[in-house]
Parts: sequence; C-alpha cells; structure tokens
Amino acid sequence: MKLAIVYTSITGNTKELATILGGLIKGYGIDAQLFTIEEFPLWQLSQFDAVVIGTYTWGNGEIPEEMLPLFRAFENQDTHSIITSVFGTGDQFYPHYCGAVDKFRDMLYVQSELAVTLKVELTPQLQDLKRCRKFAELLLQRLQQTVHV
Ligand SMILES: Cc1cc2nc3c(=O)[nH]c(=O)nc-3n(C[C@H](O)[C@H](O)[C@H](O)COP(=O)(O)O)c2cc1C
Repeated sequence: MKLAIVYTSITGNTKELATILGGLIKGYGIDAQLFTIEEFPLWQLSQFDAVVIGTYTWGNGEIPEEMLPLFRAFENQDTHSIITSVFGTGDQFYPHYCGAVDKFRDMLYVQSELAVTLKVELTPQLQDLKRCRKFAELLLQRLQQTVHV
C-alpha cells in the first residue's frame, strides 16, 4: 500500500496539520510518506494507492500556484482508482474560507475516490485534534474497503 501526504505551507500552519495527520495515519500501521509539493514525484502519481493533499488558501479563495501542477495531474492522468483526501488551513476573515480545499474537493470528487476533507482555522489547536482523528479514521475505513491494508 503506497500512501503519500503531499502538502504546501508558507508560514507553517498546513505543515503542522500535515505532521499531525501523518502521525495519526502512521499510527494505524500505514506506511505514509510525507512530501512537500516540491519533493513529490508528480510523474509517479498513478502508482500511489492513496494521496492525501494539504493546502493553504491564497488570494481570494485561490489554490496556491505551486499546487496547480498536482491539480492538473489529477485532471490529466488516470487517477480514478486513487483514494484521496484533502485538508487545509485558512482564515475565516476571508470570504472564501479554505477556498483551495473546496476547489480540490470538487475536482477530486470527479477524478478520484475522495474519502474525506478537513478545514482548520490557522494553526491547529487542541480542539482540532478530535476532527483530525476523525479524518484519519474515515480515511482508514475507505482504505480498508478498497485496498489491502
Ligand atoms: C494574501 C493572503 C491571502 C489569503 N487568502 C485567504 C483566503 O482567500 N481564504 C482563506 O481561508 N485564507 C486565506 N489566507 C490565509 C491563509 O490561507 C492561512 O494563513 C493559512 O493558514 C496559511 O497556511 P500556511 O501557514 O501553511 O502557509 C490568506 C493569507 C494571505 C497572506
């Protein structure tokens, strides 16, 4: 079972969330590999059984530029059997809170087997842990239904 967590982060909030979720997923005995978007081998996307995407939101509810090649790869490659999840951090001050998560969610729903999504306000807090655990739990359930874990 190959699972990748691919994220982008400028000020560290999404990185922190990725680290928390990575720890929870690994806690289930799944060999999750953590990549920044720059490290991720995009050409090997279809070789992964599961891809968990983490993104902040930029501009006016926009996907950060560095994440666009990954977004397009899901549109252009055969990714329909990949189990996916998307999480992100954002700021409720903006009208399109975590807009990048919504955009990935809508695309992944069509192009892959989307399991679960998660939005966190800025830096993950103690009260977010319960939602993080639920995210990992729902992802695991979906993996157990489809991939041998
Ligand atoms: C110029 C700018 C535009 C932003 N636009 C949005 C937005 O439209 N929606 C949102 O939810 N957050 C927005 N944010 C907030 C960031 O997404 C948020 O701070 C996020 O946690 C940053 O993630 P990072 O620490 O992983 O880089 C914006 C922040 C900046 C600086």
